Amino acid sequence: MESIEEESRVASRPSSSLRLAPVSLARLDPGRLTRWLLESAEFNRALGGGIVPGSLVLIGGDPGIGKSTLLLQMSGNVAASYGTILYVSGEESVDQLKLRADRLGINGQNLLVLAETCLDDVLTQIETLAPAAVVIDSIQTMYLQAVPSAPGSVSQVKECALALLGAAKGTGRPIFVVGHVTKDGAIAGPRALEHIVDTVLYLEGERFQSFRILRAVKNRFGSTNEVGVFEMRAEGLADVTNPSEILLEELPAGADGSAVAVTLEGTRPILVEVQALTTTTNFGLPRRTATGVDLNRVLLLSAVLSKRVGLALGNQDIYVNVVGGFRINEPAADLAIATAIASSMRERPVDPKLALIGEVGLSGELRRVRDVDRRVFEAASLGFSRCVIPRSSVRDRSLARMELELIGADSLAEALQRVWG
Ligand SMILES: Nc1ncnc2c1ncn2[C@@H]1O[C@H](COP(=O)(O)OP(=O)(O)O)[C@@H](O)[C@H]1O
Ligand SMILES: [Mg+2]
Repeated sequence: MESIEEESRVASRPSSSLRLAPVSLARLDPGRLTRWLLESAEFNRALGGGIVPGSLVLIGGDPGIGKSTLLLQMSGNVAASYGTILYVSGEESVDQLKLRADRLGINGQNLLVLAETCLDDVLTQIETLAPAAVVIDSIQTMYLQAVPSAPGSVSQVKECALALLGAAKGTGRPIFVVGHVTKDGAIAGPRALEHIVDTVLYLEGERFQSFRILRAVKNRFGSTNEVGVFEMRAEGLADVTNPSEILLEELPAGADGSAVAVTLEGTRPILVEVQALTTTTNFGLPRRTATGVDLNRVLLLSAVLSKRVGLALGNQDIYVNVVGGFRINEPAADLAIATAIASSMRERPVDPKLALIGEVGLSGELRRVRDVDRRVFEAASLGFSRCVIPRSSVRDRSLARMELELIGADSLAEALQRVWG
């Protein structure tokens, strides 16, 4: 009885039954996963080493951050090296795409553009044209006729993504999907898609500053540790091979309120300048604002500076800013933030050749951070001459032959003494 049921079920899905047949792992050709390499080394890095054929990739990010720019550049690159690519835009007309392509210096050979929002039609086009790769910009503008809800709704977005998954898997054709995220990231769109797609990359940055970071938050084909760093220019997104150099370009010598932190993006150390300004509060509650670092972290560090270092910050407004629109997401920058605040408060500049690494605890102790050797090495190679780190890290054997002076400190108070000592 059972076998008859099985048969009828299989019979009703003839095409998929073939694809679902088990295959011997030993006989699978690893060449099927040969990655496509793009000109942009940063994009390759974020993807985990290039485009995996047949993968479905979501590029998320705030509106206006540069998703369409990134994907049009990639399309030009793929078209030139790997075959026809179909770029479907539900947001812009083909003329607008042409204007952007001209600005980005893309000649458009093998690059087909289609302004369409009906995904049924798009799928038909994909079947007829059989392009090597596809871009859908954006998933929120697409709809399937069979789904009753409006474009951008959770069910519409999910069904569209599943349909695209079908058009990618088994064909070896990579498909890139753009998804807009709002500030809180909670909107139906991309978050609901993360389970369906193979890879999720988020393009981040401050809208009015030029740095962009392409961060992998999910990758079935690679590490989620890697980020790509770009700079937005009139001619498009350009790779930034050494972000620290650009971020520190304008590091002021002799100005107070500035300190250099060594932060890790994935496995990559990046040196950034943290600025702070303290001014006496005119009336009422003191203001504290933070750009590029968590405000709660600034509040905590201010409290530690008041209580454990004896800095009278109670009647001070405090502003903290990370230069270049960069965002620091880890406590290893605590020491640099606290030092910048203390520097502004005491009106004493910090040596511009000094880098600061360490997490600050509530008792004012300086705590170890991960991969301290990598960070110190990067500071040394950028020409820094001194580095303050937690004392427990100074003994690390990996730090034995660094070409800069290592200064160990047990507490924030001690670190500050050594900074100006
Ligand atoms: N003519 C231009 N010259 C320089 N930069 C431009 C120009 N037009 C747009 N841009 C940049 O491109 C960004 C828009 O990028 P876009 O790829 O359309 O973003 P998204 O697709 O993420 O909404 C703008 O915020 C701006 O920084
Ligand atoms: Mg766009």
